Amino acid sequence: SESLPLKGRKILVTAGGTKERIDPVRYISNDSSGKMGHALAVEAWKRGADVVLISASQLDTPDYITRIPVESAEEMQKTVFDEFDDADAVIMAAAVSDYAPATVEKQKMKKKDTLTLSFKKNPDILRSLGEMKKTNQVLIGFAAETEDLIQYAEKKLNDKNADLIIANDVGKKDRGFNVDENEVTLLSRQSEPVTISLRSKSEISVEVIDWLVKNMN
Ligand code: PMT
Repeated sequence: SESLPLKGRKILVTAGGTKERIDPVRYISNDSSGKMGHALAVEAWKRGADVVLISASQLDTPDYITRIPVESAEEMQKTVFDEFDDADAVIMAAAVSDYAPATVEKQKMKKKDTLTLSFKKNPDILRSLGEMKKTNQVLIGFAAETEDLIQYAEKKLNDKNADLIIANDVGKKDRGFNVDENEVTLLSRQSEPVTISLRSKSEISVEVIDWLVKNMN
Protein backbone atom coordinates (compact mmCIF):
# COMPACT_ATOMS: atom_id res chain seq x y z
CA SER A 1 0.00 0.00 0.00
CA GLU A 2 1.01 3.63 -0.26
CA SER A 3 1.64 4.01 3.46
CA LEU A 4 3.69 0.79 3.64
CA PRO A 5 5.63 0.92 0.35
CA LEU A 6 8.43 -1.32 1.67
CA LYS A 7 6.18 -4.12 2.88
CA GLY A 8 7.76 -7.50 2.14
CA ARG A 9 11.14 -5.90 1.42
CA LYS A 10 14.23 -6.88 3.40
CA ILE A 11 16.51 -3.97 4.19
CA LEU A 12 19.89 -4.27 5.88
CA VAL A 13 21.20 -1.27 7.77
CA THR A 14 24.65 -1.08 9.37
CA ALA A 15 25.39 1.36 12.18
CA GLY A 16 28.02 2.46 14.64
CA GLY A 17 31.79 2.50 14.73
CA THR A 18 33.53 -0.85 14.57
CA LYS A 19 35.94 -1.73 17.38
CA GLU A 20 39.26 -3.27 16.46
CA ARG A 21 40.87 -5.16 19.31
CA ILE A 22 44.43 -4.51 20.45
CA ASP A 23 44.31 -6.79 23.49
CA PRO A 24 41.54 -8.23 25.72
CA VAL A 25 40.69 -4.82 27.24
CA ARG A 26 41.72 -2.32 24.56
CA TYR A 27 40.58 -1.40 21.07
CA ILE A 28 40.66 1.39 18.51
CA SER A 29 37.46 2.84 17.15
CA ASN A 30 35.93 6.13 15.96
CA ASP A 31 33.31 8.67 17.02
CA SER A 32 30.27 7.06 15.39
CA SER A 33 27.43 6.68 17.89
CA GLY A 34 25.11 4.68 15.64
CA LYS A 35 22.42 7.39 15.75
CA MET A 36 22.27 7.84 11.96
CA GLY A 37 22.04 4.13 11.18
CA HIS A 38 19.50 3.48 13.93
CA ALA A 39 17.29 6.35 12.70
CA LEU A 40 17.41 4.90 9.17
CA ALA A 41 16.44 1.46 10.49
CA VAL A 42 13.43 2.89 12.34
CA GLU A 43 12.30 4.88 9.30
CA ALA A 44 12.57 1.84 6.98
CA TRP A 45 10.54 -0.15 9.53
CA LYS A 46 7.86 2.58 9.57
CA ARG A 47 7.46 2.08 5.79
CA GLY A 48 6.81 -1.61 6.33
CA ALA A 49 10.25 -3.10 5.59
CA ASP A 50 11.69 -6.19 7.26
CA VAL A 51 14.69 -4.44 8.75
CA VAL A 52 17.87 -6.15 9.90
CA LEU A 53 20.07 -3.73 11.81
CA ILE A 54 23.69 -4.84 12.03
CA SER A 55 25.08 -2.57 14.68
CA ALA A 56 28.39 -1.94 16.38
CA SER A 57 26.75 0.74 18.52
CA GLN A 58 25.88 0.76 22.22
CA LEU A 59 22.55 2.52 21.61
CA ASP A 60 19.28 0.85 22.50
CA THR A 61 16.85 -0.10 19.76
CA PRO A 62 13.08 -0.48 19.90
CA ASP A 63 11.93 -4.12 20.37
CA TYR A 64 10.39 -4.25 16.89
CA ILE A 65 13.78 -3.83 15.20
CA THR A 66 15.71 -7.05 14.52
CA ARG A 67 19.23 -6.30 15.60
CA ILE A 68 22.45 -8.26 15.24
CA PRO A 69 25.25 -6.88 17.38
CA VAL A 70 28.77 -6.93 15.95
CA GLU A 71 32.09 -5.56 17.10
CA SER A 72 34.80 -5.55 14.42
CA ALA A 73 34.76 -4.78 10.69
CA GLU A 74 35.45 -8.43 9.96
CA GLU A 75 32.48 -9.52 12.06
CA MET A 76 30.30 -6.87 10.42
CA GLN A 77 31.34 -8.08 6.98
CA LYS A 78 30.56 -11.71 7.80
CA THR A 79 27.12 -10.78 9.17
CA VAL A 80 26.30 -8.51 6.21
CA PHE A 81 27.34 -11.24 3.74
CA ASP A 82 25.18 -13.82 5.60
CA GLU A 83 22.13 -11.54 5.30
CA PHE A 84 22.79 -10.10 1.83
CA ASP A 85 21.50 -12.75 -0.54
CA ASP A 86 17.77 -12.14 -0.04
CA ALA A 87 18.09 -8.44 0.87
CA ASP A 88 16.41 -5.87 -1.38
CA ALA A 89 18.56 -2.99 -0.17
CA VAL A 90 21.58 -2.31 2.03
CA ILE A 91 22.35 0.99 3.75
CA MET A 92 25.92 1.19 5.02
CA ALA A 93 25.74 3.90 7.69
CA ALA A 94 28.39 2.26 9.87
CA ALA A 95 31.77 3.89 10.29
CA VAL A 96 33.81 0.82 9.45
CA SER A 97 37.40 1.03 10.59
CA ASP A 98 39.69 0.93 7.58
CA TYR A 99 42.45 -0.72 9.62
CA ALA A 100 42.81 -3.22 12.45
CA PRO A 101 45.84 -4.04 14.60
CA ALA A 102 48.01 -6.51 12.68
CA THR A 103 48.13 -8.78 15.72
CA VAL A 104 45.79 -9.07 18.70
CA GLU A 105 47.62 -9.67 21.96
CA LYS A 106 46.20 -12.58 23.97
CA GLN A 107 47.07 -11.01 27.32
CA LYS A 108 46.68 -7.42 28.49
CA MET A 109 49.77 -5.60 27.25
CA LYS A 110 52.28 -4.47 29.83
CA LYS A 111 53.28 -0.84 30.15
CA LYS A 112 56.46 0.22 28.30
CA ASP A 113 58.12 3.58 27.56
CA THR A 114 56.86 3.69 24.00
CA LEU A 115 54.39 1.62 22.06
CA THR A 116 54.27 1.11 18.33
CA LEU A 117 51.30 -0.62 16.81
CA SER A 118 51.12 -1.84 13.27
CA PHE A 119 47.88 -2.15 11.35
CA LYS A 120 46.51 -4.24 8.52
CA LYS A 121 43.85 -3.15 6.08
CA ASN A 122 40.29 -4.20 6.87
CA PRO A 123 37.89 -5.51 4.24
CA ASP A 124 35.90 -2.83 2.41
CA ILE A 125 32.35 -4.14 2.87
CA LEU A 126 30.63 -1.61 0.59
CA ARG A 127 33.06 -2.32 -2.23
CA SER A 128 32.45 -6.07 -2.00
CA LEU A 129 28.68 -5.55 -1.97
CA GLY A 130 29.05 -3.40 -5.10
CA GLU A 131 30.82 -6.31 -6.80
CA MET A 132 28.31 -8.92 -5.57
CA LYS A 133 25.04 -7.10 -6.03
CA LYS A 134 22.35 -8.33 -8.38
CA THR A 135 20.45 -5.84 -10.57
CA ASN A 136 17.44 -5.83 -8.24
CA GLN A 137 19.47 -4.97 -5.12
CA VAL A 138 19.87 -1.31 -4.13
CA LEU A 139 23.14 -0.32 -2.50
CA ILE A 140 23.42 2.85 -0.42
CA GLY A 141 26.67 4.03 1.11
CA PHE A 142 27.85 7.11 2.96
CA ALA A 143 30.91 9.21 2.29
CA ALA A 144 32.21 10.84 5.46
CA GLU A 145 34.65 13.55 4.44
CA THR A 146 36.37 16.56 5.99
CA GLU A 147 37.38 18.13 2.64
CA ASP A 148 36.28 18.12 -1.03
CA LEU A 149 33.05 16.42 0.05
CA ILE A 150 31.28 16.14 -3.29
CA GLN A 151 34.34 15.12 -5.32
CA TYR A 152 35.25 12.30 -2.92
CA ALA A 153 31.62 11.23 -2.63
CA GLU A 154 31.29 11.01 -6.44
CA LYS A 155 34.43 8.92 -6.52
CA LYS A 156 32.89 6.54 -3.93
CA LEU A 157 29.65 6.35 -5.95
CA ASN A 158 31.60 5.07 -8.95
CA ASP A 159 34.46 3.11 -7.33
CA LYS A 160 32.11 1.17 -5.05
CA ASN A 161 29.33 0.67 -7.61
CA ALA A 162 26.73 2.12 -5.21
CA ASP A 163 23.29 3.34 -6.32
CA LEU A 164 23.31 6.22 -3.85
CA ILE A 165 26.06 7.88 -1.86
CA ILE A 166 25.08 10.06 1.07
CA ALA A 167 27.79 12.71 1.29
CA ASN A 168 28.37 13.71 4.91
CA ASP A 169 30.58 16.63 5.91
CA VAL A 170 32.14 15.40 9.15
CA GLY A 171 34.39 18.39 9.74
CA LYS A 172 31.81 20.43 11.69
CA LYS A 173 30.75 19.95 15.31
CA ASP A 174 26.97 20.41 14.82
CA ARG A 175 26.48 17.55 12.35
CA GLY A 176 27.79 14.09 11.48
CA PHE A 177 29.46 11.99 14.16
CA ASN A 178 27.89 11.59 17.59
CA VAL A 179 25.29 14.40 17.48
CA ASP A 180 21.52 14.39 16.87
CA GLU A 181 21.55 16.39 13.64
CA ASN A 182 23.02 15.99 10.21
CA GLU A 183 23.24 17.65 6.80
CA VAL A 184 23.84 15.48 3.75
CA THR A 185 23.89 15.54 -0.04
CA LEU A 186 22.38 12.64 -1.97
CA LEU A 187 24.41 11.63 -5.02
CA SER A 188 23.14 9.18 -7.60
CA ARG A 189 23.65 8.59 -11.30
CA GLN A 190 20.04 9.37 -12.25
CA SER A 191 19.79 12.94 -10.96
CA GLU A 192 21.57 16.08 -9.85
CA PRO A 193 22.89 16.19 -6.25
CA VAL A 194 20.20 16.97 -3.65
CA THR A 195 21.25 18.66 -0.41
CA ILE A 196 19.16 18.01 2.71
CA SER A 197 19.89 20.93 5.03
CA LEU A 198 20.70 20.61 8.75
CA ARG A 199 17.97 18.72 10.66
CA SER A 200 17.48 15.75 12.97
CA LYS A 201 18.77 12.35 11.90
CA SER A 202 15.16 11.10 11.94
CA GLU A 203 14.17 13.80 9.45
CA ILE A 204 17.24 13.04 7.31
CA SER A 205 16.16 9.40 7.35
CA VAL A 206 12.70 10.29 5.98
CA GLU A 207 14.38 11.85 2.91
CA VAL A 208 16.77 8.92 2.42
CA ILE A 209 14.00 6.32 2.69
CA ASP A 210 11.83 8.41 0.33
CA TRP A 211 14.67 8.14 -2.19
CA LEU A 212 14.85 4.38 -1.60
CA VAL A 213 11.09 3.93 -2.09
CA LYS A 214 11.29 5.80 -5.42
CA ASN A 215 14.33 3.87 -6.60
CA MET A 216 13.48 0.38 -5.36
CA ASN A 217 13.44 -2.26 -8.09
O1 PMT B 1 26.83 7.12 14.01
P1 PMT B 1 26.60 8.61 14.14
O2 PMT B 1 27.24 9.18 15.37
O3 PMT B 1 25.14 8.96 14.01
O4 PMT B 1 27.35 9.31 12.89
C1 PMT B 1 26.89 9.11 11.58
C2 PMT B 1 28.05 8.92 10.59
C3 PMT B 1 28.80 10.25 10.43
C4 PMT B 1 29.00 7.83 11.05
C5 PMT B 1 27.37 8.48 9.24
O5 PMT B 1 26.49 9.50 8.80
C6 PMT B 1 28.41 8.19 8.16
O6 PMT B 1 28.88 9.07 7.46
N1 PMT B 1 28.76 6.88 8.02
C7 PMT B 1 29.85 6.41 7.14
C8 PMT B 1 31.17 6.57 7.85
C9 PMT B 1 32.32 6.06 7.02
O7 PMT B 1 32.97 5.12 7.39
O8 PMT B 1 32.48 6.67 5.85
P2 PMT B 1 33.65 6.38 4.78
O9 PMT B 1 33.60 7.51 3.83
O10 PMT B 1 34.94 6.07 5.47
O11 PMT B 1 33.16 5.04 4.07
C10 PMT B 1 32.43 5.04 2.86
C11 PMT B 1 31.38 3.95 2.88
O12 PMT B 1 32.02 2.67 2.84
C12 PMT B 1 30.46 3.95 4.10
O13 PMT B 1 29.15 3.59 3.68
C13 PMT B 1 31.06 2.86 4.98
O14 PMT B 1 30.05 2.22 5.76
C14 PMT B 1 31.65 1.89 3.95
N2 PMT B 1 32.88 1.22 4.39
C15 PMT B 1 33.97 1.92 4.79
C16 PMT B 1 35.13 1.27 5.13
C17 PMT B 1 35.17 -0.14 5.07
N3 PMT B 1 36.26 -0.80 5.43
N4 PMT B 1 34.08 -0.83 4.68
C18 PMT B 1 32.94 -0.17 4.32
O15 PMT B 1 31.95 -0.80 3.94
